[in-house]
Amino acid sequence: MKKIILFADPGIDDSIAIMYALLNPKIQILAIVSSYGNVAKEQATNNVAYLLKLAGRSDVPVIGGANAPLDGEIPEFYPEIHGPDGLGPIQVPKTFKGELTNFSELYTLLRNHKDITIVDLGRNTSLASLFLLGNLLTENISEIFMMGGAFLVPGNVTPYAEANFYGDPVATNVVLSNLNNIFIIPLNVTNKAIITPDHVKKIMKESSNGLVNIMDDIMSYYISAYKKLVPGIKGAPLHDVLTLSLMVNPLMGKYAQREVEVLTSSEGRGISVADFRENSKPAEREIHICLEFDYPMFIEDLISVICNPLKTDTSKRLFL
Ligand code: RIB
Ligand code: CA
Repeated sequence: MKKIILFADPGIDDSIAIMYALLNPKIQILAIVSSYGNVAKEQATNNVAYLLKLAGRSDVPVIGGANAPLDGEIPEFYPEIHGPDGLGPIQVPKTFKGELTNFSELYTLLRNHKDITIVDLGRNTSLASLFLLGNLLTENISEIFMMGGAFLVPGNVTPYAEANFYGDPVATNVVLSNLNNIFIIPLNVTNKAIITPDHVKKIMKESSNGLVNIMDDIMSYYISAYKKLVPGIKGAPLHDVLTLSLMVNPLMGKYAQREVEVLTSSEGRGISVADFRENSKPAEREIHICLEFDYPMFIEDLISVICNPLKTDTSKRLFL
């Protein structure tokens, strides 16, 4: 069982990733940190809390993260892909407000649990701030999985840069140079983690958990949005879900160990750089870049996890 602290900015693929984590018996979510990214922080926070409510898991703490990147740039949002509020056609009722837990609770979690996996599916501002604001108790963090970067392949937000690393390159460099045992899941692999309308149909047929209808609406919206943006694409890439799936399935991906730097200058902002020459020196620290993965294994894992019954809130008593 992996105990994770999940940083997210839902966002469609983040939302499916949260549902994947909630439905996966190999994952225990200790907390979800919601930050700006695909949408503004307040919207991301409401989206996380709403998904948890639909799943009957309001016991999972929702922790408010960052509003903007460390360099003070004003963030851009992406409604053309994720919908006006980040959940495709779904709008969280205006009266709904999730309850927020204080950011400092993260230090308590890091003190009280051993072998924690950090998973960052958005801009790295909140994770970097966790390190910068306090004595981050790294001895209890066993690994860090982060979705981001594009190595020698085109970017998705600029010709060369991927959206998460572009969003806060300073924060990404803080994380990369201060934390250890990092697994980077870049566009090289996530662009190929395509879910198609046939996969969605299969999920609808085989699943009966309470999240399946919202998943159908969200994924169908996402696939149509991508089809408009990328001519000829067969579906839409689940960047953030692949990151979680690789985290629980160690044999699914192949990794190269390299030093990584993210450029912060205006024209180069967000470009991820690593030395892939044959004679390049191996990284001194444990930074692993995923460069290949087993697509059929991913799809099989995705569908089987998404079709699982919902786990129950273990903090609740059962009454006859
Ligand atoms: O570039 C893909 C990443 O950007 C994903 O995490 C997606 O949710 C968006 O934020
Ligand atoms: Ca994301």
